[in-house]
Amino acid sequence: MVHSDRVLLEAVHDAYSAKAREGVDVKYANTVASAFGYTAEELRSIPLEANLGLSCGNPVASATIKQGEYVLDLGSGGGIDVLLAASKVGRTGQAIGLDMSADMIALARRNAAKQNLTPPQVCFVQAALTEPLPLVSDSIDCIMSNCVVNLLPTLGKAVLMKEAARVLRPGGRLVFHDIIAKQPLSLEITNDLAAYVGCIAGAITLDQYKAILSQAGFRDILLVDTETDINVYSLSETSGSEGCCPPTSGCCAPPVQSSKSKFNANAWVASYQVYAVKPEDEESAVSTDRPSNALQRWWDAFPLAQANVPEISAEKVANLMMNGSPEEFAVIDVRRDDYQGGHVNGSHHWPAQTFYNELPKFVDTFDRTPKVIFYCGSSTGRGPRCAGWYQGRLQEMGLKTSSALVLRGGFKAWRAMYGGRSDLTAAD
Ligand SMILES: C[S@@+](CC[C@H](N)C(=O)[O-])C[C@H]1O[C@@H](n2cnc3c(N)ncnc32)[C@H](O)[C@@H]1O
Repeated sequence: MVHSDRVLLEAVHDAYSAKAREGVDVKYANTVASAFGYTAEELRSIPLEANLGLSCGNPVASATIKQGEYVLDLGSGGGIDVLLAASKVGRTGQAIGLDMSADMIALARRNAAKQNLTPPQVCFVQAALTEPLPLVSDSIDCIMSNCVVNLLPTLGKAVLMKEAARVLRPGGRLVFHDIIAKQPLSLEITNDLAAYVGCIAGAITLDQYKAILSQAGFRDILLVDTETDINVYSLSETSGSEGCCPPTSGCCAPPVQSSKSKFNANAWVASYQVYAVKPEDEESAVSTDRPSNALQRWWDAFPLAQANVPEISAEKVANLMMNGSPEEFAVIDVRRDDYQGGHVNGSHHWPAQTFYNELPKFVDTFDRTPKVIFYCGSSTGRGPRCAGWYQGRLQEMGLKTSSALVLRGGFKAWRAMYGGRSDLTAAD
């Protein structure tokens, strides 16, 4: 391989981000998805834009996902498999997609929103799969992946398998669909960046795949050749003889016999189902603990706040409460688990963890209130985050009748100054 890991990751990132922004021909995407096992009913049940024709299997169909399970999809693209899994896990489960491309994450979130699916039940988080995964250890029942592991550099593949073993609960399962090399690939192929982005050149052999799974601690490893025609990608392409995978475009897999690719993909690689289980130990078998959210940081599931919001001092807020008119301001408490020990008198409770989902309702309620003052415990995290989301939404909507502020020092600072004043601080 002549290309460095950085070059490979960047090429993959840029190609798939472009796919997310530009979209694909629906007929092409449906033909590819059908060839890899998605039923017409499954495809009708999700937004058209969720299927980008980038899959090489249908992991949800083989993962026997049950209600209440926590499911993780590595390299979730437009969200096709997370959305299909979401209907299986229901309201008591969680379906989480990770992808390094901000454009893919934005697309997948739009697709989830079209189905009224919101965090924490359905989350899409931007994350590089070659880094530690932003998930709680032992929290996930089933990890899926569809045509992604082949896109990781060699060392990254091993890192990912170890992380997969960490986040799976003991007894949890891994169900991947991936492209696997039938024989060691020729140098002509491994050095071809278009073939790498097209899910061919990064494929490893069956033995290598089994080795990284078993080194990560997995057991009951089973790899099954689906015998699907890999050329379906290029045969389904509707326009042009150049094919679908120039280096800057990206889709699985590269065209057969195109001017850029002189090899027959079917001769070198195949689409496989990969199954493996994280062993249970005696101690874990009795443990029933499970976090209410498998994400380490709940806010990863939401867009970054777009606006920086100024602070307001406790003295100024107290002055508003004593001398201002009630229409002039509103105080918003965004604490949740720590919502005890008093609050600013008259403050409205909108917990941060559900704030983003409720933003349209919040804007409807407060968009005519000139000063909307947010606080949490110390106003270094949740307060500024919710204030930033609100201010960003006001700006998007061109609304100037309201603006966000953050209570400096949060409730801790407030209580230190006004904890003894019943006109300013209410006990719970
Ligand atoms: C071939 S597409 C498959 C998308 C989706 N699984 C599907 O079936 O439609 C590969 C996806 O993996 C993502 N990806 C590739 N390498 C990645 C990495 N190192 N970290 C995170 N995501 C990655 C890409 O951004 C892209 O969305």
